[in-house]
Amino acid sequence: MGTDGFDLAGTVHVPALGVGTWAWGDAKTWGMGTYDRSLTEDTIAEAWRASIDAGATFFDTAEVYGDGESERIIGRLLAADPERAAKVQLATKFMPTPWKLNVRGALMSALRASLDRLGVERVDLYQIHGPISLRGHAALAEALAVAHQQGLVRTVGVSNYSVRETRAMAEQLRKRGLRLATNQIELSLLRRIPETGGLLDTCRELGVVPLAYSPLGQGRLTGKYSAANPPPGKRGFSNHPMEVVDAVVAELRRIGEPLGKTPGQVALNWIIAKGAIPIPGAKDGRQATDNAGALGWELSADDVAALDAAALIEKRSFGNRFWQHG
Ligand SMILES: NC(=O)c1ccc[n+]([C@@H]2O[C@H](COP(=O)([O-])OP(=O)(O)OC[C@H]3O[C@@H](n4cnc5c(N)ncnc54)[C@H](OP(=O)(O)O)[C@@H]3O)[C@@H](O)[C@H]2O)c1
Repeated sequence: MGTDGFDLAGTVHVPALGVGTWAWGDAKTWGMGTYDRSLTEDTIAEAWRASIDAGATFFDTAEVYGDGESERIIGRLLAADPERAAKVQLATKFMPTPWKLNVRGALMSALRASLDRLGVERVDLYQIHGPISLRGHAALAEALAVAHQQGLVRTVGVSNYSVRETRAMAEQLRKRGLRLATNQIELSLLRRIPETGGLLDTCRELGVVPLAYSPLGQGRLTGKYSAANPPPGKRGFSNHPMEVVDAVVAELRRIGEPLGKTPGQVALNWIIAKGAIPIPGAKDGRQATDNAGALGWELSADDVAALDAAALIEKRSFGNRFWQHG
């Protein structure tokens, strides 16, 4: 556990840094084939190779990313490179939209479709994408337990769950002999409320590993965007005025420069210091290599405290049913 990585539910070992793949195949938010013509399946393959070679072997996708295209791309990468494929841990997600009232049937057919696109017999982690089902925790836990019993998922997790929802799901899974492995949440220097609001403490208490999504504030914390050069596309997470972001990036630079670290590497290392696994997206080999440079070193306690003071505590809570998916 910690900087050497984590054992999810005591079953699957994953490194302290993962890789997010929402951008792979997605046109609407991340611009593949639209505003970002530099993002191609070749640059994605570079990101895939660079990540694995640097030890970031844990990949997060979802049935909804690019309407399944992210999973299809990963399936092609796995098939083309069996040597790297053998090193990889795969996580994907089920979107429990409210009209899926037969949640067990819906989850099993979504899972089979994901496995088909990925070209694998099982995934290492299967997550409920958000707390938006009209069915209770018991029905969702039962559906996950069936998937686990059938050997299609090695561990199970949730995403965007509040303190109360995390406890409830952990309890429902426990009744079925399963552990809740993860809760994937938005956590970054632009969104510290999971720490200040007690969610990270609850996860620690329950043995649930927090996975930090949008850990670079959707690119804003890398230092390449600014008030004068805002990010392109519709990036709804951490969508603060760039003047506010610029002040956080200035602090990342102040701390990172003497250490020879980029703003993004410092931002990711701060998340690792909080006991969570950041899963930054990477569009090419350069970004993947830069992000992997968050591994293998630790910020000092003084630097963590300075970053805590600079971080934004966005108040939007989990558990509301209007969370935007990503
Ligand atoms: N469970 C959920 O509800 C949920 C929600 C959101 C995300 N996620 C997961 O979390 C993952 C990560 O979140 P995210 O993709 O929203 O945001 P992010 O990781 O904070 O930002 C990723 C974007 O930042 C830019 N970037 C990344 N590394 C960089 C580097 N080293 N240098 C410069 N730019 C860099 C790239 O976009 P540009 O080059 O275009 O700037 C990249 O697509 C997703 O891929 C997905 O797997 C889950």
